[in-house]
Amino acid sequence: MPSLNGAVVLVTGANGGIGTHFVHDALARGASKVYATARTPRTWEDERIVPLTLDVTDVASIEAAVSAAGDVTVLINNAGASVASPGILTHTNEEIRTNVETNFLGPLFLARAFAPVLSAKDESVIIDIHSAMSWYAVAGIYSATKAALWSATNSLRLELASEGVHVVGVHVGWVDTAMAAHTTDPKTDPADLVRTVLDAVEAGEYEVLADETSVQLKAALSGPVEALYPALQGTNSKSQS
Ligand SMILES: NC(=O)c1ccc[n+]([C@@H]2O[C@H](COP(=O)([O-])OP(=O)(O)OC[C@H]3O[C@@H](n4cnc5c(N)ncnc54)[C@H](OP(=O)(O)O)[C@@H]3O)[C@@H](O)[C@H]2O)c1
Repeated sequence: MPSLNGAVVLVTGANGGIGTHFVHDALARGASKVYATARTPRTWEDERIVPLTLDVTDVASIEAAVSAAGDVTVLINNAGASVASPGILTHTNEEIRTNVETNFLGPLFLARAFAPVLSAKDESVIIDIHSAMSWYAVAGIYSATKAALWSATNSLRLELASEGVHVVGVHVGWVDTAMAAHTTDPKTDPADLVRTVLDAVEAGEYEVLADETSVQLKAALSGPVEALYPALQGTNSKSQS
């Protein structure tokens, strides 16, 4: 069973709301070292925390991280970008590219780059932070990138199982961080989320549905699309209106 005790953890987006909790919770569970990576690393008051520069959209930056952190046993793909408007038709081209590169290609290339490192260890883990929006397409390109990452995580889990790399996908609705500062909807405390995720990892689970929103949206995928998106009910083509 994967354990954080003695693990060497790399967290992307470690300065962020969820990332910071991954750093501290991993250490509390006995991790020997945590690479706290960020585009602009901060200083940390703990010698077990190693700040490391990593822009997940930059292949050279990923390669440098692999060279600097060849002892990693747990890769946490946490860094993420969001969108200012909800629709694919209303995003800027730049927003679309940034979301695809940060939320999808970044974790994908990181997993590929660290796969040999992780495969060489007796016990290793990849944790990909998806979203409840993987299963609910109301956030435009953000939803699309989180759906794509969910699929890539599922592929990597199959491909890496024989290498002893345990791959975990995480789904959650709003979490109380800067990314969700604009909404007054109920939010999960990031400390609670990270505890749930690391408990699941240490229990050998493959998928974390961290809140009721995620549970309901996954279940709703088996129903008709009009039930998941009530706005579609009663609408039809322009010619019939
Ligand atoms: N908050 C929510 O409601 C919610 C819900 C479901 C899933 N999530 C997911 O949870 C993850 C963490 O988000 P959060 O809530 O903790 O938000 P956050 O506080 O805004 O943190 C996001 C972090 O990602 C980093 N980042 C963005 N682009 C990056 C890049 N190119 N390279 C490296 N780091 C980059 C940011 O770094 P900078 O400081 O350099 O900008 C920031 O530290 C994301 O994947 C997000 O999609 C969040």
